[in-house]
Amino acid sequence: MSNYHIKHLEEYFQVYRKSVQNPEGFWEEVAEEHFLWRKRWDRVLSWDFTKPEIKWFEGAKLNITENCIDRHLVTRAKKTAIIFEPNSPDEPAQHITYRELYERVCKLANVLKSKGISKGDRVCIYLPMIPELAVSILACARIGAIHSVVFAGFSSNALSTRINDSECKMVITTDGSYRGSKTIDLKGIVDTALEDCSCVETVLVAKRIHSGINMKEGRDLWLAPLLDAAGTDCEPEIMDAEDPLFILYTSGSTGKPKGMVHTIAGYMVFIAYTFKNIFQYREEDVYWCTADIGWITGHSYIIYGPLCNGATSIMFEGIPSYPDFGRFWEVIAKHKVNQFYTAPTAIRALAKEGVKYLEKHDLSSIKVLGSVGEPINEEAWHWYDDNVGKKKAPIVDTWWQTETGGIMISPIAFATPTKPTYATLPFIGIQPALMDENGNEILGNQVDGRLCIKFPWPSIARTIWGDHQRYKDTYFSAYENKYFTGDGALRDEVGYYRITGRVDDVIIVSGHNLGTAPIEDTINEHPAVAESAIVGIPHDVKGNALYGFVTLKDTGETRNQDNLRKEINELITEQIGPIAKLDKIQFTSALPKTRSGKIMRRILRKIACRDTANLGDTSTLLDPEVVQEIKDNVL
Ligand code: WT7
Repeated sequence: MSNYHIKHLEEYFQVYRKSVQNPEGFWEEVAEEHFLWRKRWDRVLSWDFTKPEIKWFEGAKLNITENCIDRHLVTRAKKTAIIFEPNSPDEPAQHITYRELYERVCKLANVLKSKGISKGDRVCIYLPMIPELAVSILACARIGAIHSVVFAGFSSNALSTRINDSECKMVITTDGSYRGSKTIDLKGIVDTALEDCSCVETVLVAKRIHSGINMKEGRDLWLAPLLDAAGTDCEPEIMDAEDPLFILYTSGSTGKPKGMVHTIAGYMVFIAYTFKNIFQYREEDVYWCTADIGWITGHSYIIYGPLCNGATSIMFEGIPSYPDFGRFWEVIAKHKVNQFYTAPTAIRALAKEGVKYLEKHDLSSIKVLGSVGEPINEEAWHWYDDNVGKKKAPIVDTWWQTETGGIMISPIAFATPTKPTYATLPFIGIQPALMDENGNEILGNQVDGRLCIKFPWPSIARTIWGDHQRYKDTYFSAYENKYFTGDGALRDEVGYYRITGRVDDVIIVSGHNLGTAPIEDTINEHPAVAESAIVGIPHDVKGNALYGFVTLKDTGETRNQDNLRKEINELITEQIGPIAKLDKIQFTSALPKTRSGKIMRRILRKIACRDTANLGDTSTLLDPEVVQEIKDNVL
């Protein structure tokens, strides 16, 4: 039996038991056998959830890029590491070998150093899905700089908030990006963002769309000539196991985005191990995860996990609907994709178009299908299973979070029998608990509760950048000595988990994690708005859509409601990004509040979902009549 490569359900149970009975011994074995260390650890694990403080492989020294690249040069130098599939199907794909990746990463690492970046500095990466994005991430890791990738769909305001929060010294961007038939002026967004950032000294600009852009003297530099002049070798910085690898921002239910900090060694070990097992990746397989690297899915399962295993990983620049809704299927057939990993929102959008786009393409290479980002509904699950996997490819429904770094609950392909809408069993080393409202663990099967994790796993985020107290309050204060996920879940009769959705004020729209408070704060900035409240309503493609209730200031003038709706959404696009736009905006004279002034979102959610048969107790409301008014005018 191999700990590293699980192939049967009995093996899973055996290895799982070992991993919870002796976590240190188990992870030590995995770490020892499958990675390159410059110095061995002194201690496998020390942890205290009350502080919280978690350390894995303390004392060890390594560089993650040696594990992702250098060690493969012996046997896989000519193997493709990354296949770049451009936005336009007319532009040829690029196959970047491990050797080429090594050189490109070293060159950029040398450029970063020459521009004053050193170990511990933060570098903001604001790039579309082009090879430079992968190379930038790895170049930072090569020299021990901490990368902070900001999804290139975020607005200038969201970008500057993130740059300032972690005081990035450098931004790496492009002259623009392609998105279907459109181009986006990324450099313009960076320029606007940097008006509010004094920490940035240098902006490196890759050329992608060849548009005319402004280059600010003394700050902005074209990347290509610098790379041409740079050396093709760069000694890796030897890092401590617990040095930060990256910061990645995620929205919280309140306040500014949280810069989740992941550290090197534990993250590496867990991501590589989950990738190998869950997707059952074999040498020569071609693996494709359609996520953007701006999210954790891309960090862990486009870059670090696949490369640590010497895999071939596709980076797709485009969108599923361009030039038509057959693009995903075309790319699968073209590159003979073996493992395909996407989000329920994409599956639903494609299912809506029927099977005519699928039928044109040969999908017989597919061995494993993955789903991530939100609960997958039964209909989408079956459509995926029937039409994409032809009922032969197991679907791994992978539950995890930015904070968890890697996949936590998921089938292991071919080992775990799947069940529609269920993420099934905890992965090796993961100890989930369902909690009731009084803080007690709910034991046994056929129960539901709030999902917590009882024991540290190697890739848990270690802190929130600059705000450890918030890290403690958000994740370790709701339940004593447990990590609280913010999700609800149920456990069925055989112990399979089904994630039922967020239990806090986070709404998942098209797989994007959106906090209600930052959106409400933005709406309230509109001069005509007095107050607002956002709730999620079911949406057949996006999973959830945003529904806003807005009260206006009494200025005596009448305003055109449609114009106001437009202005509010423009404001949201500007401040946060188009993903946070509201589908519906209902104006109302007041919001239902408790006597202590708390907005009753529960009631608003039911009204917006037209589920008003049982609104629950409204007697504690300050102004019960407002409920009737809101019900009468629901959109
Ligand atoms: C939240 C985390 C994990 C990478 C992408 C999202 C929801 C994620 C699933 C799934 C049900 C899921 C949860 C979680 N979620 N995967 N397979 N089934 N829900 O990362 O932006 O940090 O969001 O996404 O609600 O808490 P994220």
